Parts: sequence; C-alpha cells; structure tokens
Amino acid sequence: MAPEDTPELRQLYADFESLHIMPLWTQTGSLMPQHPAPQAVPHVWKWSKLYPAAKRSGDLVPVGRGGERRALGLANPGLGGRAYVSPTLWAAIQYLGPKETAPEHRHAQNAFRFVVEGEGVWTVVSGDPVRMSRGDFLLTPGWNFHGHQNVTDKPMAWIDGLDIPFSYQNDVGFFEFGPEKLSDETTPEFSRGERLWCHPGLRPLSGLQATISSPIGAYRWEHTDRALAEQLRLEEEGHPGVFEPGHAAVRYVNPTTGGDVMPTIRAQFHRLRAGAQSAPRREVGSSVFQVFEGRGAVVLNGETHKLDVGDLFVVPSWVQWSLQAETQFDLFHFSDAPIMERLNFDRVQVG
Ligand SMILES: [Fe+2]
Repeated sequence: MAPEDTPELRQLYADFESLHIMPLWTQTGSLMPQHPAPQAVPHVWKWSKLYPAAKRSGDLVPVGRGGERRALGLANPGLGGRAYVSPTLWAAIQYLGPKETAPEHRHAQNAFRFVVEGEGVWTVVSGDPVRMSRGDFLLTPGWNFHGHQNVTDKPMAWIDGLDIPFSYQNDVGFFEFGPEKLSDETTPEFSRGERLWCHPGLRPLSGLQATISSPIGAYRWEHTDRALAEQLRLEEEGHPGVFEPGHAAVRYVNPTTGGDVMPTIRAQFHRLRAGAQSAPRREVGSSVFQVFEGRGAVVLNGETHKLDVGDLFVVPSWVQWSLQAETQFDLFHFSDAPIMERLNFDRVQVG
C-alpha cells in the first residue's frame, strides 16, 4: 500500500517537516507494535565492577551541596546514554565515605534504599533518623526532606531506586534544597515510624487514615528473612504458602492500604531453594533485581546470565525472565508495576 514515489510526494514529505508534522503511515509498526518492543535491553551489572567504581568516586569526588549525592546511575545500553535503567526507573549505587554527610533535600520523585552490605549510615527522613543495615529496605516517599550521615570510620554503599525517568519524561518533578546539616543527628536503633507501625497485625488508632505511601521508614532484614524461611518450611511440611514450588516471595506493603509502599514503585523479595527454578514470566513494565545472597542465574529472553552477590539486572517490558538457583538464592526486586496497574496496562504471561 506504499504510495508511488513521485516529485509531488517528496515535496509533500518535505513540507511535513517544515510544518512539524509526521505521517502515521510510515511509522505505524514502531509507534504501535503488536506487543511491547522496548528500546531498553536486558542487562547485568556486576557488583565486582560497580563497587570499585563507587569507591574510586569516593576518593576523587566530594559529596555536598550541589552534587548532593555520590550516586552512580545504571545506564541501560538501549536508552541512549541517559542514566535510566528502564524508561520509568532509576537504579544507582550510592557511596558515602567515613564521617561524611549528604545534605538534606526533597523532591517529588519517590525513592528507596536497599542495603546489600555494610552498616553505619543513618538516613533522616522528615526529621526521623532511620538506621541503615544489611538487608534493610528503606523508604523516602516523594516530597519528604532527607539526608544521610555515615557515623563510622568505614565507607558504606547501597542501592537507590527512584522513579526519576518517569518523572523526567512526564515533567512532574519538583526539587528543593534543605539544610546542609541534618535536622536530627541522633542514631537511634529504631526510627519513630517503626516504633509506631512495626508490630505484626497491629495498627495504631492514631493512624486509621489511608496514606499514599507507607509510614514505615525501614523494613528490617530480620522480618523479611523470617517470612521467607517460614514459607519454605511450610512447603517442606506440606502446607501452602510459597509462590511456586521452591520459590518463597514477599511484597513490601503500605500497612494503611495493604497496597504498594509508594505510588510508582513496587518492591518484593524472592528466595529460591538450591536447585529451584522459577516459571518463565513476561510482564508489562520493567523490573530490576539485585542478588542479596547465594549464586545462580537469570534467563532473559533465552540467554543465561550467571549471577553473584550484589549483581543487578534489568528486565525491560515483556522480556521473558526466569531465575535459577545454584545455592539458596535471595534476590531483592523492584518494579514500576503500580504505574502499570493503576493505568490498566498491566499484563502477565506465565510459562
Ligand atoms: Fe534525594
């Protein structure tokens, strides 16, 4: 159905350019593919390469007002040189040297931290100091002032996840500087949010209103670990509970709604028994995983990638993924699923 190539047609197309219009008929396939055809590509970042790069940045680049954070954003090779791990998500390794402080600021973008190793940093979120320790999942929902301080003589690194690309592409971002000195420099074992909210099955009567984001600043590793261990134990005893055979999984939730912790980001944790394999899945929307413990592999669109502790990988939209556990295999996982579900674009294909 291509039109005849004539001088008049060429002139028409040239005129389109000067009018800033483009015909649909020459680009239907790329604008409306039969299924998602992401520009983002599946990719693995090795922790053994990321951490030394962060450490070298720590030696050369100060942290402070202006740059704000010593964070290295994972840049998906398919996304044209921006520090986007996917079209919606940002994932970075952030490094804070001994006794360093990252000043307070706030932004519309929602953020979390996940700690694969180390301790000794407190993040202050809306004036509430939150201890950061190995295996903890920590929230900084949009528009809360936050800063970090390392109170030890050792550096610490963790991963940050945000909805920066979504925010940037939709022009919804606002940003404000806060004080350079943290608003609370104390280092309590538990934040006020945890003291109020982190008692299983109990909700304070002062907090019966649903809130957009979770009021819990830190989801502690001991709880995640126990929840996963019990799912696998129940399976051994012949009871239901695991997500699929040999695969325990939990979602971090907002206790005021039972839904996701923040409006744009879902976070989950997976544990596979040694030798287990997850069913191949495709989902609309993108996901990022980080290996927390153990060894294994991920199969992305048929290609197997070996994984060690700390390694991160991205699963772009509609890319098939499956996990394979060599040892017991623990992975932290976040995605843009709340956006896709809210807008009714979500689809999943299993097997
Ligand atoms: Fe921030």
